[in-house]
Amino acid sequence: MKIAMIGSGYVGLVSGVCLADFGHRVVCVDKDASKIEALRAGRMPIYEPGLDTLVATNVAAGRLSFTTDINDAVAGADAVFIAVGTPSRRGGGHADLSYVFAAAEEIGQAVTKPVVVVTKSTVPVGTGDRVETILREACPDHEIAVVSNPEFLREGAAIEDFKQPDRIVVGTDDPRAQAVMTEVYRPLFVNQSPILFTGRRTAELIKYGANAFLATKITFINELADLAESVGADVTQVARGIGLDDRIGPRFLNAGPGYGGSCFPKDTLALLQTAEESDVSLRIVAATVEANDLRKRAMADKIADALGGDLAGKRVGLLGLTFKPGTDDMRDAPSLAIVPALLERGASVQAFDPEGMEQARAMLPGISMCDTAADAARDADVLVLLTEWDLFRALDLHALARTMARPILVDLRNVYDPSIVARAGMTYHGVGRGDLS
Ligand code: NAD
Ligand code: UGA
Repeated sequence: MKIAMIGSGYVGLVSGVCLADFGHRVVCVDKDASKIEALRAGRMPIYEPGLDTLVATNVAAGRLSFTTDINDAVAGADAVFIAVGTPSRRGGGHADLSYVFAAAEEIGQAVTKPVVVVTKSTVPVGTGDRVETILREACPDHEIAVVSNPEFLREGAAIEDFKQPDRIVVGTDDPRAQAVMTEVYRPLFVNQSPILFTGRRTAELIKYGANAFLATKITFINELADLAESVGADVTQVARGIGLDDRIGPRFLNAGPGYGGSCFPKDTLALLQTAEESDVSLRIVAATVEANDLRKRAMADKIADALGGDLAGKRVGLLGLTFKPGTDDMRDAPSLAIVPALLERGASVQAFDPEGMEQARAMLPGISMCDTAADAARDADVLVLLTEWDLFRALDLHALARTMARPILVDLRNVYDPSIVARAGMTYHGVGRGDLS
């Protein structure tokens, strides 16, 4: 099949290269010329494990190419995917659909034969209808089916998630489009990944339902962590005890500093807007959004408490800035809420992140960036583990403690066994581990 991928960001690039790896001929398009130039030169515009090798293999095999010219990519394509951004609009949290609609307009003008246009971007219910109208007006001469095919990959595990998905959701009632989508994803059926055909609006809602549910699951365990701290229980064991129930499941029950990233925050807000427009109250999702916002800011208090309450003049060593490990993505990272709160209260911050420093530099002015974890710990009054990069899982705590002004570890991801930290001569503060006090 010939596939055009419009938008070569996290989702477009990963989806494009994986579809090429399945044997399809894929052209990835982006309007950002510097991104395309980098990709053509073999440089990845994002950090995602395994991506560079997979891109190189598929480019060399002649199955994958990059262009800024949408006409070239769309002409003759069997399926055209839209994978452009849908960020929050300023004020309110509506999804900004301008990139999606612009892409639809451009696709409509470039189409040369009947085609299936697939929305992979996360878009509010009803967007497929509007995309269809735009395409019909721009291209009255060819039959165009519009499909919703939301993406469920996680950054940092994106290739694995794309190639071994829990499910593929395809929203269309059009049999021709169903047949094309079956061909696109046929290689996945070997792994027995289920494909779920639904109506278009249903597919759009499945995506928001999944993200809102996961955000709520995390927020639920975060609130239990607060309770565990005050009643003398260990939330890591509570999570295990709850998660072993098949009906609940063990994943996404790691208490932490609050969820971040390019999707949970914006998608929960957009879902609330959709509900409001339909006069429906999603009280649980609203509570999740509020609790998560408060939580991120409360992490500065937690760090202050570890230092006896006062942050003025204190030096905070920070390990990890990105919203999760395995990515350089800083969008809505908890660090963006926590660091300003620390600075406001008079602390200085020295930080290290294995991949996020370049993006973080512009977003977090006023902090010093270190070259290593050891540099971030040196002379610090407290060391805060904010993102659970593998590199931070086996730190030489003895050595770090000796260089710190005060050997205190605030482990916001519960990575460390408190007894090991104590043996290294450090005071330990985790999340929801109230059994220690
Ligand atoms: P991104 O910002 O990384 O990439 C979007 C790309 O689209 C940019 O490179 C931009 O230049 C390009 N673009 C915009 N308009 C264009 C046009 N008209 N023609 C060509 N290129 C154009 O975004 P992302 O993180 O990949 O997210 C894309 C969509 O996928 C969003 O709706 C997001 O919610 C959804 N999603 C993201 C993830 C994730 O992990 N990042 C996972 C699942 C779903
Ligand atoms: C999330 C979803 O997991 C994907 O299925 C979805 O496709 C994607 O959003 C999207 O729509 O963009 P992602 O944001 O890449 O993926 O990362 P997650 O692993 O879900 O983590 C999101 C946030 O939740 C991170 O800040 C992470 O630290 C936090 N988290 C996650 C926890 O605090 N505890 C957990 O147990 C799990």
